[in-house]
Amino acid sequence: MNISNGQLWKYSSFIENKYYSFDKEEILKNISKEQIDEAYLTISKWDNYKPTPLLVLNKLSKELNLNKIYYKDESKRFNLKSFKALGGAYAVEKVTKKNKNVIVSSATAGNHGRAVAWGAKRLGLKCKIFVSEYVSEERKNAIEDLGAEVFKVKGNYENSLLECIKNSIQNNWQIIQDVAWKDYKLIPTLTMAGYTVMMKEIADKIHKEKITHIFLQAGVGGLAGAMIAGTVRYLKNIPNIIIVEPDSAACIMESIKSGKIEKINITRESLMGGMSCREPSLVPWEILKKSVNNCISLPDDDIGKAMKLFANGSFGEDKIVAGENSAPGVISLIAICNDENVKKKVNINSNSNILLFGCEGDTDQKMYQKLLKE
Ligand SMILES: Cc1ncc(COP(=O)(O)O)c(C=O)c1O
Repeated sequence: MNISNGQLWKYSSFIENKYYSFDKEEILKNISKEQIDEAYLTISKWDNYKPTPLLVLNKLSKELNLNKIYYKDESKRFNLKSFKALGGAYAVEKVTKKNKNVIVSSATAGNHGRAVAWGAKRLGLKCKIFVSEYVSEERKNAIEDLGAEVFKVKGNYENSLLECIKNSIQNNWQIIQDVAWKDYKLIPTLTMAGYTVMMKEIADKIHKEKITHIFLQAGVGGLAGAMIAGTVRYLKNIPNIIIVEPDSAACIMESIKSGKIEKINITRESLMGGMSCREPSLVPWEILKKSVNNCISLPDDDIGKAMKLFANGSFGEDKIVAGENSAPGVISLIAICNDENVKKKVNINSNSNILLFGCEGDTDQKMYQKLLKE
């Protein structure tokens, strides 16, 4: 079998970060060691908590002639099927201090809102979630099933966030947002602290083995920033960090290019819905700007194909349920390995141990089935 074959795996752009200057202390000024440790101590005590699997894609690593490819499978995260469960629900618990009189609110493209609704449900709190008209009925229903009231807002994600802020101020609801803005940084930081639990689990599994490269999908950069902070806290070495984005929404790439936050225009919504964001969030940006080595952007073209290969166990021994946002890591890796020039720049070779994030499973089942059938 030849999965990686030639030109079939496309990337759009690749850049190196000319401002790269990894500084552990600077990174931990944004999320502290104490915040990271407290998140793990809290979340690891939740009912039904267990680390998600760290799988190996041994068929693919053999074919690409790499030492190892790890895949963190977040489709198994609680019953929410995405890493987002760690962030939103943790922030709900920390901010409300389990006070049942607090009503929480949030705007979402899907998974974050589901995490907040789940976090509210486990503590018996009321929850109000705002979604844009682009959020599928499937995703909206999943949030309602967790007991939240869902409001559909005309326009895009930004419109849903503005509506959420307006209503929350009027009604004294506590906003639990994963995106930071001026004077709203603590809650997004707590959300990211929740995500770092993944890196603790990974460090516990790999023991003394060294991860050399981490591919991190990014929307506003929360996941990526959290994983870099987690790297500083839990790993002994500093791996190469490669940010992966849809080419229609590569706001981190554009910001890394110029060294400052750039707001981009999205003219086409990517299939990778969770990553279709216009600008980096403030807290992760402070981490990302000097600690990302490379950025790569991808078209949507190969997403369905990668999802199918995950599903039928072509990359490793396991059949993996990988949603749209889980596919771009493996696509970037294969595309880089097919381009000798870029492969050299990223320093990927037969000694490399790669870490990929399977951020979600079939969080939108209808979409998942549709893409598998195509
Ligand atoms: C489901 C989902 N939502 C959102 C994101 C993006 O996270 P962030 O906006 O924190 O960068 C990802 C990342 O791949 C994702 O898989």
